[in-house]
Amino acid sequence: MRVLIVGPGYIGLELGRQFVANGHEVFGLRRSGDSSGELRAAGINALKGDITEPSTLNSLPRQYDWVVNCVSSSHGGADDYRRVYRQGAQNLVEWLRESPPTKMVYTSSTGVYGQNDGSWVDETSATDPAAETSRVLLEAEQVFLAAAREQGFPAVVLRVAGIYGPGRSWYLRQFLAGEARIEGEGNRHLNMIHRDDVAGCIMAALERGVPGEVYNAVDDEPLRQREFFVWLAEKLSRDLPPKAPASAEANRKRGASDKRLSNRKLKDALGYSFRFPTFREGYAAELARLG
Ligand SMILES: NC(=O)c1ccc[n+]([C@@H]2O[C@H](COP(=O)([O-])OP(=O)(O)OC[C@H]3O[C@@H](n4cnc5c(N)ncnc54)[C@H](OP(=O)(O)O)[C@@H]3O)[C@@H](O)[C@H]2O)c1
Repeated sequence: MRVLIVGPGYIGLELGRQFVANGHEVFGLRRSGDSSGELRAAGINALKGDITEPSTLNSLPRQYDWVVNCVSSSHGGADDYRRVYRQGAQNLVEWLRESPPTKMVYTSSTGVYGQNDGSWVDETSATDPAAETSRVLLEAEQVFLAAAREQGFPAVVLRVAGIYGPGRSWYLRQFLAGEARIEGEGNRHLNMIHRDDVAGCIMAALERGVPGEVYNAVDDEPLRQREFFVWLAEKLSRDLPPKAPASAEANRKRGASDKRLSNRKLKDALGYSFRFPTFREGYAAELARLG
């Protein structure tokens, strides 16, 4: 297969490595090209371009079997989100329309679910997030889903939960630095997925995903924040982090939600088996790696 990864960053680089290992021809498109040499080192052909600037895409090759859009605005505000996610989605669809791939996967976020009552959430649940940035992610999804519906563009949406893995374990880093806090009673649920499983879910979606469909990419076990820290404290023989009052106002501002995400559709429809079914396996691997 000839594969294009748009945004070969934390997820896309690992995905590219796996594609290369499976014998595929892989291209990686980002603004910085391959200034660090990491794409070449991974066996990925570097393309330099900016999906918010269609003129930078025009001279690039555009015939691919599979395309994955996993760009990230790297924490910008709503305006950045609009440019990178929504306008970027539109530009990509237009750029690829001339010679469409057989499948395209867009990595959205489970942040599009705004439920705040700890309820179970699946792909049929309401998407009414409080945060403006999450609403923009929904609009980006709609660009791909409308193209699938109206033009037969083969886009599949993956809604990805909180990613952790080598070099990116935010809670663990906070915990080790003594900066972690249990919010209120620690009852809010965490929904996570290991980096390697995100790559695995993308591959499954490319192979078996149905265009126009949405799948949650999250591991088997939502858990309360407190349970997570209890597990970590036991593993590392350290004290639990102190509690910090949960400010309803602060939570409202950052659009904090509390929900338990179901991966039933991902497992049933895509037949995906997790390498790290819960945070326990994933974080045990991280702790072993850190020694
Ligand atoms: N982190 C999480 O917990 C989480 C949760 C849910 C969903 N997601 C989604 O998962 C996906 C992968 O995230 P990640 O953590 O792997 O992202 P990342 O490490 O921040 O990588 C983002 C990549 O996008 C490229 N990029 C940014 N703007 C671009 C533009 N305008 N044109 C072309 N390339 C551009 C960046 O390279 P340059 O800067 O060189 O352009 C970089 O290679 C994203 O779609 C993200 O929204 C993440």
